[in-house]
Amino acid sequence: MTSSTKILLSGVKPTGRPHIGNYFGAMKQFVDLLNSGQYRCYFMVADYHALNTVKNSQEMRQHIVDLALDYLAIGLDPEKAVLFKQSDVSAHTELAWVFDTLVTVPYLQRAHAYKAELDRINALNPKKEALLNKKVGMYEVEINVGTFNYPVLMAADILLYDTDVVPVGQDQKQHIEYARDIAQKFNGTFGELFKLPKALILEDVATVPGTDGRKMSKSYNNTIPLFADDETIKKAVMSMVTDSKGADEPKDPEHDTIFAIHKLFTSPAELAKLADQYKQGTISYKESKELLIQKISMFIAPLRERRAELQKDVAAVQKILERGAEQACAVANAKMKEVRKMIGVDSQ
Ligand code: ADP
Ligand code: TRP
Repeated sequence: MTSSTKILLSGVKPTGRPHIGNYFGAMKQFVDLLNSGQYRCYFMVADYHALNTVKNSQEMRQHIVDLALDYLAIGLDPEKAVLFKQSDVSAHTELAWVFDTLVTVPYLQRAHAYKAELDRINALNPKKEALLNKKVGMYEVEINVGTFNYPVLMAADILLYDTDVVPVGQDQKQHIEYARDIAQKFNGTFGELFKLPKALILEDVATVPGTDGRKMSKSYNNTIPLFADDETIKKAVMSMVTDSKGADEPKDPEHDTIFAIHKLFTSPAELAKLADQYKQGTISYKESKELLIQKISMFIAPLRERRAELQKDVAAVQKILERGAEQACAVANAKMKEVRKMIGVDSQ
């Protein structure tokens, strides 16, 4: 690794089990880019971002260990990359505050994720009183400040490490643009300090569809979990929604969710063959699903076994996160020291 080695950072929220959309959209890239040897890599468990929705300490602890296990099971080698937990590096929240004083409310109101959350909450509104009476948390029926500020904390995550590239799925693109804007705001106000990061988005897997054809997402209940057992894989694939074309009718592969998922697990030659079968009407949706189940099961089995093995030693996982925190703190605290100097709050 030389001084010209580029810096890569990404993160995932510990909010539940990852799915193949997370894997092909973001996490697989983490492994490939780490193994390319071209980057100094930081992979973060974004627990303070998850706190916007996870309000139970036991659940939070479990999700954190789960995500760390997922990172290790997909092949992120802690000897080569820094694996750490956001809350262990307090510079992230400290820098987020500094950025809060530079970023305006209307600017944050334009964020897609904020607008989507507002829509979700407004859709609940008729039931709001009833929900409040049931003593659900206020955060479930009224937007919290953490959700509003989400892009600011994410900008701090990225900018503290002089990050060059951020591998993510399409839905995070705007957040990286916000990080660039925020870096420029700081640099313009106090002087050059932050590097402008770039998003790395793989176009062909930018949005993996879920079993209902919408974007695969933990919040839509339409996922194929990454470490699923065979039964779960079968159930998920069999539930996939298709049009009503019969077994021997010609079908359009580009308008079929089953085919879209085949793309993730199939070589180009095999895929071309399958596309022909679709067009000629020599394969039914049911057969296509059965073929897909076999492919996914074969792909997931070794990942699942590796994860089960790692799970036997959770203490080792905690140690990896502790070591990662030390490495991340060394870099982030040094950067924060420069920030404090530039804004004038350091002691002389
Ligand atoms: P979810 O929408 O399931 O809650 P997260 O927000 O935790 O997923 O996303 C973690 C990472 O996975 C992000 O980089 C995100 O862009 C990517 N990702 C999530 N869903 C998909 C999808 N359906 N297709 C491609 N990438 C995705
Ligand atoms: N917002 C990202 C997501 O929902 C998670 C995340 C938090 C992140 N901080 C980050 C991703 C920094 C990349 C870089 O998936």
